[in-house]
Amino acid sequence: MLKQYLARAAQYLPVTGRRAGSLARKQRLLAEKQHREVMAGHEALRSQLVRLEEELLPHGKGARGGVRQTLDELASAVDEVGRSSRSAGRTALESVWAAVYRDTTDRSDWLTDQTVSPGRWAVGYPFLYVLYRVLDEARPTSILELGLGQSTKVTAQYAAHATAVDHTVVEHDPEWISTFAANFAVPSTTRIRSLDLTTVELDDGNTALRYDGFAQAVGEATYDLIVIDGPFGGGAERARIDVLDLIPQSLAERFIIILDDYNRPGEKRTATAIVKALDAAGIAHKTTKYSGEKDLWVATSPDLKFFTSL
Ligand SMILES: C[S@@+](CC[C@H](N)C(=O)[O-])C[C@H]1O[C@@H](n2cnc3c(N)ncnc32)[C@H](O)[C@@H]1O
Repeated sequence: MLKQYLARAAQYLPVTGRRAGSLARKQRLLAEKQHREVMAGHEALRSQLVRLEEELLPHGKGARGGVRQTLDELASAVDEVGRSSRSAGRTALESVWAAVYRDTTDRSDWLTDQTVSPGRWAVGYPFLYVLYRVLDEARPTSILELGLGQSTKVTAQYAAHATAVDHTVVEHDPEWISTFAANFAVPSTTRIRSLDLTTVELDDGNTALRYDGFAQAVGEATYDLIVIDGPFGGGAERARIDVLDLIPQSLAERFIIILDDYNRPGEKRTATAIVKALDAAGIAHKTTKYSGEKDLWVATSPDLKFFTSL
């Protein structure tokens, strides 16, 4: 079983380096399928180890210590292979998304400066891809973006090219604003609001990092696209909760919300809270998750549900 599993994983890993072309969507589905199969193999192997432990331990009184040690070592080896496989799976998906993004934006009539550096602090390729499709096809007219950076390069070019589009970016770090602006000519159609960060105590006993004066600064307008990638969430129990101030009154009837780092618990809780707030306000919606190196979460009004199946 272990041999079969490792052979399957080894077959899967090379997907990472493959250059994806115009069949990128097919490759992404294949990468996802292979990833699921490897993870299923990993789970099966784990259960088999647990069963083996239950069967062996009662019999081997004298050899108990040795059997336990061998099983523990095997279990940790299986877990390590699982971790590497998960990580390789994400890298494979990210590289396929990169190709999909490039194919999609090639010869774009509004994304003329395609210099972008996704990943690490910034959004990844799946985020950029979803953002581009949303801008290009849903044509939002009032955009709020939380966290200035690589995603802004895409959103700002759309706002500059389209007519009558409001684009506001909230950013906490004045130094980052000048560094960013020194390398990317922020169009006059993009307004950057500099808001300090503040830590607030929540009813559940947790704290959260928030933009100070958020609702007063941006809560008056109505938005049909909200892009959330700030403030940095970094493994907090609750993260990026500012958007909750805007639901429902600042959400347009036709809307899309995109939240990055949905693989982290703090952002996941925020997505759940968004759904709860939408439900409480009787606002119908569709949601989905896209995965690359990290996950992003998307919520849309029902008429824009197409953007949950890109
Ligand atoms: C998760 S980042 C993402 C910002 C943006 N959406 C992007 O795609 O780059 C959130 C915050 O990190 C800070 N930041 C962005 N790029 C950074 C970098 N290269 N190094 C350090 N901090 C950065 C900014 O203050 C930003 O608001």
